Amino acid sequence: MGTLFFFNLFCGPGSGKGTQCANIVQHYGYTHLSAGDLLRAERDSGSENGTMIDNMIAEGKIVPSEVTIKLLERAILETDNDKFLIDGFPRNEENRAAFESVTGIEPEFVLFFDCSEEEMTRRLLSRNQGRTDDNIETIKKRFKVYMESSLPVIEYYNSKGKVRRIDATKPVEEVFDAVKACFAPSGGTIAA
Ligand code: ADP
Ligand code: C5P
Ligand code: MG
Repeated sequence: MGTLFFFNLFCGPGSGKGTQCANIVQHYGYTHLSAGDLLRAERDSGSENGTMIDNMIAEGKIVPSEVTIKLLERAILETDNDKFLIDGFPRNEENRAAFESVTGIEPEFVLFFDCSEEEMTRRLLSRNQGRTDDNIETIKKRFKVYMESSLPVIEYYNSKGKVRRIDATKPVEEVFDAVKACFAPSGGTIAA
């Protein structure tokens, strides 16, 4: 079983990736690797990259791939599982190209959670996890980075027929029903 990447298009932050990953882990036995969670843990561990990671997150910028890929590789090696759900990665072309050249792994498919900026902003502002980037100024920067940097990556995967689009504005249970359809052998809808 190969690696499964998980991310979404410009409707990125707050679209419900973490929420649905928890459902997928429970239902399908994947190991959930969130690039953002790994970066926050690395920052909090007092590592030499801590300050740089902290600044990048507060500004909504993408941390250099070498740092994030090392954390992902370490997490992959630490588990016996061979099924991974990678959440929030790749975020830009550099992330994608570097990960594929270092690991030689390509995703089976990519879930794209389609959600309006308005709804994502509402969710982020009520997430209440004490995150330094869930404030309106940083949220605007994160959307901009998502549009500029993540769009080319989703287009790349779309050209390979790997993108599965899901309406993420619906309630959690309905979104999960759509996610389950993507895991079914027939494979869900291919994005236009
Ligand atoms: P992401 O990982 O994409 O940033 P999260 O899974 O952390 O998003 O979700 C952001 C917030 O929105 C959380 O507070 C979560 O409980 C809530 N949420 C997630 N999915 C839905 C949904 N389908 N409908 C309403 N709220 C949701
Ligand atoms: O995915 P999540 O919302 O948890 O990401 C939070 C932040 O972590 C991003 O806005 C970005 O600053 C950083 N990040 C990154 N590279 C990734 C994933 C997240 O730099 N691949
Ligand atoms: Mg998340």
